[in-house]
Amino acid sequence: MPRAGEVLMERDLEGKVAYVTGGSRGIGRAISVALAKRGANVVFGYFRNGDAARETLRLLEDEGVKALALKRNLTDPEAISRSFDDIEETFGRLDVFVSNAASGVIKPFAELNERAWRWTMDANARAFFLGGSRAQPLMRDGGSMVGMSSGGANRVLPGYGVVGASKAAIEALARYMAVEMAADGIRVNVVSPGVVDTDALKHFPMREEMLDRARTQTPAGRLVTPDDVAATVDFLTSEKATMITGQVVTIDGGAGLLA
Ligand SMILES: NC(=O)c1ccc[n+]([C@@H]2O[C@H](COP(=O)([O-])OP(=O)(O)OC[C@H]3O[C@@H](n4cnc5c(N)ncnc54)[C@H](OP(=O)(O)O)[C@@H]3O)[C@@H](O)[C@H]2O)c1
Repeated sequence: MPRAGEVLMERDLEGKVAYVTGGSRGIGRAISVALAKRGANVVFGYFRNGDAARETLRLLEDEGVKALALKRNLTDPEAISRSFDDIEETFGRLDVFVSNAASGVIKPFAELNERAWRWTMDANARAFFLGGSRAQPLMRDGGSMVGMSSGGANRVLPGYGVVGASKAAIEALARYMAVEMAADGIRVNVVSPGVVDTDALKHFPMREEMLDRARTQTPAGRLVTPDDVAATVDFLTSEKATMITGQVVTIDGGAGLLA
């Protein structure tokens, strides 16, 4: 019997290829492993943390699929291009692209400068834009793309100005990509998780307050987990979601509904 909340998926991605940026740890690792459990060969990206990448590689190989780790800085367009060259050379196709990696400067507006803007927009919004452009021709049999946003795209979180702007750009871009790629059988959606307790929160000066608030005030009664996000990505990249495209799906246990 499945446990409550457990998502049952067949190996519907057998022989297919998925690429998850920032797939070495946190939410991206949960997504990578979930895609591998569905039979997909998984390419995942990381930037600096080799230990986490090695551990993820082992978890993916345990699922009996082919796995490839790419150490690339996604603020560099050349590095993005090389990642897709590697995917094409190794697998010759792509079926699922999850643009999950994120980086950014968290500071009050008055302390932000052009460098912070460029780094944040490049790592998040441009990486989704360039990745989507390169993924499209590799999805010869159609496919599914998922971008990663957050509540800060629409609401104001302390110090989150440029990251919020980069996430809003991802949401807008996904709608255009969804319409323009529909004829190729490619769907493009975005997921927007609430607070998830990953290493990313270490960069937030008010980490403890955010976690406390999310734990005590989320209507669903608990924090969102990486597996909650992976389950939604599973759904969006499955045939069950064939008619869902250009949407932003919030995964926050109702937290964003509160005033
Ligand atoms: N955690 C949350 O509460 C939350 C809430 C809403 C949305 N999200 C979104 O969910 C996604 C995943 O977040 P997370 O919390 O799982 O993050 P995380 O634990 O900090 O992991 C970030 C991942 O991205 C990679 N990465 C960072 N900078 C990169 C760069 N310049 N080039 C290539 N890869 C890079 C990291 O690689 P290394 O480890 O090698 O550096 C790592 O694999 C992000 O888009 C984030 O904005 C998170």
